[in-house]
Amino acid sequence: MPLDEKELIRQALKARTYAYTPYSNFQVGAALLAADGRVFTGCNIESASYTPSNCAERTAFFKAVSEGVRDFKAIAIVGGPEGAEKLDICAPCGVCRQVMMEFCDPETFRILLAVSPEEYQEYTLKQLLPMGFGPENLGKGKMKYD
Ligand code: THU
Repeated sequence: MPLDEKELIRQALKARTYAYTPYSNFQVGAALLAADGRVFTGCNIESASYTPSNCAERTAFFKAVSEGVRDFKAIAIVGGPEGAEKLDICAPCGVCRQVMMEFCDPETFRILLAVSPEEYQEYTLKQLLPMGFGPENLGKGKMKYD
């Protein structure tokens, strides 16, 4: 199924409205497109003891994987301070990039960093995590970088 970037970004924007961020007030939404066309959304969820906080991207990945879905094509990410008039580009943190590396092909997985459905930047996972360490390094499958 072809990727509808605008629709994926709209779903990320909606997911962002559910962000639970009483400590940072920085709200992130993600919409993860699986190879079968299903979309798994996520928001960031914080904790009073801080370290259990989970990013929007990992929320989306863990929802999908916990439902048996492991093949992904793209993720749209939106983020910014609560109440911001206009969002800025929000790049995924290193931990989330590593989780992407676990399940996605670095050459083909598309990461859309969006301000709005009309304004976004697109990267591959390889661009955001060059020479990433992944399952292939432990002999699980084919190497994904040269
Ligand atoms: N956060 C995400 O959810 N995704 C990102 O890509 C960057 C950071 C969250 C974590 C925390 O709840 C808040 O944004 C501030 O770091």
